[in-house]
Amino acid sequence: MISDLRDYYSARAHEYDTVYAKPERQTDLREMERWLPAQLRGRRVLELACGTGYWTQFIVPVARHVVAIDAAREPLEIARKRIADDRATFLLGDAYHAPPGIGRFDAAFAGFWFSHVPYSRREEFLQTLNERLDASSPVVMLDNLYVAGSSTPIAERDGDGNTYQLRALGDGTVHRVLKNFPTEQELLSLVEGIGANAQFIRWQYYWGLIYLTPPPKAARIPPSASA
Ligand SMILES: C[S@@+](CC[C@H](N)C(=O)[O-])C[C@H]1O[C@@H](n2cnc3c(N)ncnc32)[C@H](O)[C@@H]1O
Repeated sequence: MISDLRDYYSARAHEYDTVYAKPERQTDLREMERWLPAQLRGRRVLELACGTGYWTQFIVPVARHVVAIDAAREPLEIARKRIADDRATFLLGDAYHAPPGIGRFDAAFAGFWFSHVPYSRREEFLQTLNERLDASSPVVMLDNLYVAGSSTPIAERDGDGNTYQLRALGDGTVHRVLKNFPTEQELLSLVEGIGANAQFIRWQYYWGLIYLTPPPKAARIPPSASA
């Protein structure tokens, strides 16, 4: 049983996209595939934990450029093959510390990543992301709601409140994976201090969150300059 997230997603890479084939989720997915690119049109997008590029493929055609980062080599290779487009750059890297020198962005997206961020690292993740973004940039997340009968059951909860699932792969291995299911209220309060205009969207199986990084501070005009 392996619980390192990167190892788990490396091992899962070639079967990962079956998660997007669940029949009961297709209506939601089509709506989200329309909604997401509309939020990121014309932007320089930093995508964190892009995986196999399932969502990247919908963003790239409308974005100015997308830099997509993932910590695992295997899903990243699938993403590279899936999206051969000059507007997309794929990089191996850590979502908590984007590689230095990748520049600044005016939008960010993280799909099905925030649910893997432990409570203890949530603020750190959001703060470091903000630092990469211009003022008033949209930050967009998509992730899972817990739906009994469709979601993998929660097997465990630790002292911090993080929940864990036991996930089986095609090769028979079972992995203990941290997967949280934050509520609307939890998400909105979390971004209250670091963002503006936060909006939570609820589909049947998924949630979406969009907020803007803080607006630029109003320039202070020295008294002598305004005379
Ligand atoms: C649930 S998948 C999401 C993939 C993709 N965004 C999607 O929605 O289909 C989570 C991804 O996070 C990646 N990952 C795990 N730890 C990471 C880290 N520290 N930094 C960046 N990516 C990481 C995994 O390799 C995996 O591809």
